[in-house]
Amino acid sequence: FQPKRLAGKTLLITAGPTFEAIDPVRGITNLSSGKMGFALARAAREAGAQVTLVAGPVSLPTPRGVQRIDVRSARQMHDTVLPLAPRHDVFVATAAVADWRPATLAEHKIKKDGKKQAPTFELTENPDILAAVAALRGAKPYCVGFAAESENLLEHARAKLKRKGIPLIVGNLGPATFGRDDNALLLVDATTQQALPADGGTADKLSLARLLVADIAARLQAAHHP
Ligand code: C5P
Repeated sequence: FQPKRLAGKTLLITAGPTFEAIDPVRGITNLSSGKMGFALARAAREAGAQVTLVAGPVSLPTPRGVQRIDVRSARQMHDTVLPLAPRHDVFVATAAVADWRPATLAEHKIKKDGKKQAPTFELTENPDILAAVAALRGAKPYCVGFAAESENLLEHARAKLKRKGIPLIVGNLGPATFGRDDNALLLVDATTQQALPADGGTADKLSLARLLVADIAARLQAAHHP
């Protein structure tokens, strides 16, 4: 039995990688299957929320009842998310957004023929979508970030909370979670940390998503009825 803990709530979720084009046939991207974000969208829907899922390039089916918007680049994801954010109660940023993009986009395929030297690419910084949503004035959602760190997870997560101005970070405890179905999470807020699953083991991403959704619902309720 799944209680409808998020009935009447709206959730905005980013998922997957972004793809930053170099030319019409090439680009740079991050490793991300999108599985965690899609599992969260499904779990939030099951919990009664209205869910908008903004997805980078992934090959995953849309969870039933979820409104999905496909994007490719970080800027497209940013420009899709920002206007939607004020209309949502919660924003969960699971996307592995590329930090940089090529400074220029070549109109045609860059050719190898006759060139003695390999091309070099100048990169420019992408917008931080999560920080931008957290910095919205007026109505803004409860913001949840993800952190994939290879070391000192707690320390980095706390620093990230401050830097992005958000109340909750979800750290990936599993060493190699990309594309895998099982994982362990560490929920970090300004004063507490809590492992999911609570027994310190691992769980599949849908089970973790359901636990995380229940936790977020409890935090929302505490925020409204402290
Ligand atoms: O700064 P860092 O990439 O480590 O932060 C990770 C968190 O910030 C994730 O929740 C990710 O979805 C979000 N993020 C974002 N836009 C970016 C970079 C990260 O929303 N450009």
